[in-house]
Amino acid sequence: MKPLWLSLDQRALIRENYRLVSQMAEDYSERLYFKLLHQHPFARALFPDDLTNQSRAFRRTIDTLVEALDRFPALHATLADLARRHVAYGDQAHHYPLVGDVLIETFAEMSGSGFTAETRAAWQMLYDDTARIMIREAYPQA
Ligand code: HEM
Repeated sequence: MKPLWLSLDQRALIRENYRLVSQMAEDYSERLYFKLLHQHPFARALFPDDLTNQSRAFRRTIDTLVEALDRFPALHATLADLARRHVAYGDQAHHYPLVGDVLIETFAEMSGSGFTAETRAAWQMLYDDTARIMIREAYPQA
């Protein structure tokens, strides 16, 4: 059975990996958007031409998720608001796994051999739980 929430070890793996990728000269969020639009060209029409603010805003949300790993339920209202705004952006429920896959691939590429299967699984669980809250809020009929 799937555990209810990330274990202490999984939270530590996320924190350690995020510290690494956040400190790199290359901005992981810019790389993520480059990859996302390359792999899923349909998404280009959803975003403004200049992705600078977008990639900063996305990164701030990931910062918040990592900072709040020990109190995830406290983020519920913030994520619900974010999800409702995404409906107006043209976002759909099936887009969430696409963004999650690109996010985790970006971290994997930037981390190199330090990105273990356990680290990947921990990120996946965090993203899936985040996306589940957002999708449930934005598309209650889905
Ligand atoms: C956990 C997943 C996601 C997070 C944390 C996230 C985060 C954000 C943030 C912080 C913003 C800035 C605007 C605001 O706060 O309302 C934003 C905007 C946006 N996001 Fe997301 N997002 C996620 C998933 C997605 C997905 C799956 C899509 C679909 C491709 C998407 C498309 C967009 C678009 C189109 C905008 C608005 C761009 C604009 O017009 O300025 N996001 N996102």
